[in-house]
Amino acid sequence: MRKLEQIYEGKAKKVFRTDDENVYLVQYKDDATAFNGLKKGTIEGKGVINNKVTNFLMQMLETKGIPTHYVQQLSDRETLVKRVQIVPLEVVVRNIAAGSLSKRLGLEEGTPLATTVLEYCYKNDELGDPMINETHVYAMNLATPEEMDTIRDYALKINAILRDYLKEANIDLIDFKLEFGRTPDGKIILADEISPDTCRFWDSKTMEKLDKDRFRRDLGNVEGAYHEVMKRLMGE
Ligand code: TMP
Ligand code: ASP
Repeated sequence: MRKLEQIYEGKAKKVFRTDDENVYLVQYKDDATAFNGLKKGTIEGKGVINNKVTNFLMQMLETKGIPTHYVQQLSDRETLVKRVQIVPLEVVVRNIAAGSLSKRLGLEEGTPLATTVLEYCYKNDELGDPMINETHVYAMNLATPEEMDTIRDYALKINAILRDYLKEANIDLIDFKLEFGRTPDGKIILADEISPDTCRFWDSKTMEKLDKDRFRRDLGNVEGAYHEVMKRLMGE
């Protein structure tokens, strides 16, 4: 597989075309941003950890019936993925109140939610990824009702699978963000990443934060927390 020209650079990853038109190459960076790019920094080794953790979790999800874009890990930072058109939605799933939900609704961080909360944000950096609902999705033709049924179903299944899986590693899954893509033949599959950048992971016993909140909130030991997640999941 030959790596061809770069077609996209995001805040944490670059995407390249390959000589297979149905396969893209994703390269994970150590760059970290928060608050829509206002805060910038580097988390040493993050790209390697997020690449490995994402691939590990996506392969696990595949075995449980969730279709993902994962094809093959090429190196510490590079992975082949299926070519998709990203549905421009950040799909946020929440089990415990934290972050922007706590702020918006005045719920103390750590408050259990009686049922799972599902939120959609329109992926648009200029607008700061505003929260929207399904009627906005249809009004802007971002996805069809059938696609949203699939996305909702997968998001809730992924939550149930990940929550149980992480519990075994003494990690509580507080909330997380998913992105989905459309394959050339119109199927919805899980894309992007699942990592300490995109999830809130709390140690089940101590409630210590093992995710990007350590960077967002200047809590220290950011690299250590990312490493701890990889070690608990993969033994590395
Ligand atoms: P929030 O509480 O800031 O809305 O974040 C909810 C979850 O989504 C949290 O696990 C972090 C993740 N997230 C991203 O992956 N990317 C983002 O740009 C934001 C704002 C949150
Ligand atoms: N990655 C996001 C940004 O900088 C924010 C975050 O993860 O907190 O836009």
